[in-house]
Amino acid sequence: MILVTGGTGLVGAHLLYHLVKNDEKVRAIYRSKEKIDAVKKVFSYYTEDISLISKIEWFQADITEVPAMIPAFVGVQKVYHCAAFISFNPKDYREMRKVNIHGTAIIVNLSIDAKVEKICFVGSIASVGDAVDGGFITEENEWNKEVDNSGYSITKFGAEMEVWRASQEEVAVVIVNPGIILGSGFFKSGSGKLFNQVANGFNYYTEGITGFVGVRDVVKAMMLLMNSEVKNERFILVSENKTFKDVLFSIADDFGKKRPSKKINSWQTSILWRFSAFVSKITGVAPLLSKYSARSAHSTSKYSSEKIKKSIHFQFEDINSVIKQVCIDYKN
Ligand SMILES: NC(=O)c1ccc[n+]([C@@H]2O[C@H](COP(=O)([O-])OP(=O)(O)OC[C@H]3O[C@@H](n4cnc5c(N)ncnc54)[C@H](OP(=O)(O)O)[C@@H]3O)[C@@H](O)[C@H]2O)c1
Repeated sequence: MILVTGGTGLVGAHLLYHLVKNDEKVRAIYRSKEKIDAVKKVFSYYTEDISLISKIEWFQADITEVPAMIPAFVGVQKVYHCAAFISFNPKDYREMRKVNIHGTAIIVNLSIDAKVEKICFVGSIASVGDAVDGGFITEENEWNKEVDNSGYSITKFGAEMEVWRASQEEVAVVIVNPGIILGSGFFKSGSGKLFNQVANGFNYYTEGITGFVGVRDVVKAMMLLMNSEVKNERFILVSENKTFKDVLFSIADDFGKKRPSKKINSWQTSILWRFSAFVSKITGVAPLLSKYSARSAHSTSKYSSEKIKKSIHFQFEDINSVIKQVCIDYKN
């Protein structure tokens, strides 16, 4: 039996499709029934046979609640841990610590108790350090706690530390550290918002550079690593390092929309995030832009995925093809 956490999220839903398509026995954690409809939607991007979803054994639980999670591990040999709370709102920091660090500690402890064979954990490039010399960032670049890290980055690093603990307790682990994941579904949250915004005529761009990867490549790499002899290693998953401008332009082109034409400079975002934080303090509404999103919109971080390419001969889909497919699914 395979246990999947975060099955009602972008990565988890695509992973569930590929697992059940391969006839794997899968148990997936969910919190609310409505989110299962979002998984059905993701399945519909691949197949007309939505009945495949009935092969999933759904298990209702919150990963931060130990008593609820204990029965989820009965008969489990492999765990894909995709659940996380992603936010750049400083107000969410405590909750992110609870879900991302404490929740992962619970998954690790229960995996050790259940003598699970292997865990595949979805980390992030947010928990990999910056390149010292401005070159490509690799798995060897250590996360630096001395710099001004976002709460998300801190909690993803903390979660990764919990996962390494499992490797000391006879549970094999593989960690993937994806860049920004582009994929079909969940268009009102996370990276899916980029597509929604451009489809609705978003007119601004920045020229920061970061790593992007398609969700199909993320789940393919996870399954290949899980089913390989590879253990106790982390892998950056980035297909291409691109500017936000290029990505937004490609999305606009595929939607047949006008390309965003207003370049936002770093001094403008720096005013905007401060103003957003001020408004958020008064209204209690989540800020439009956080300090950390503003910073990454302008910074240049280039990632190397040579390790996974060499280790398991992995080949990534180029980002323009990923965007093309997502735009088709969005329009449908
Ligand atoms: N999206 C990206 O660009 C990106 C990039 C790099 C790394 N990652 C990492 O990839 C993983 C998956 O991200 P995603 O984009 O799929 O995120 P997502 O769409 O926001 O999904 C998050 C999932 O975690 C579940 N979850 C959150 N808190 C939970 C809790 N307390 N108990 C049980 N389940 C809980 C959510 O359940 P509900 O449906 O009930 O909310 C949902 O299924 C995360 O670890 C994230 O850090 C994402």
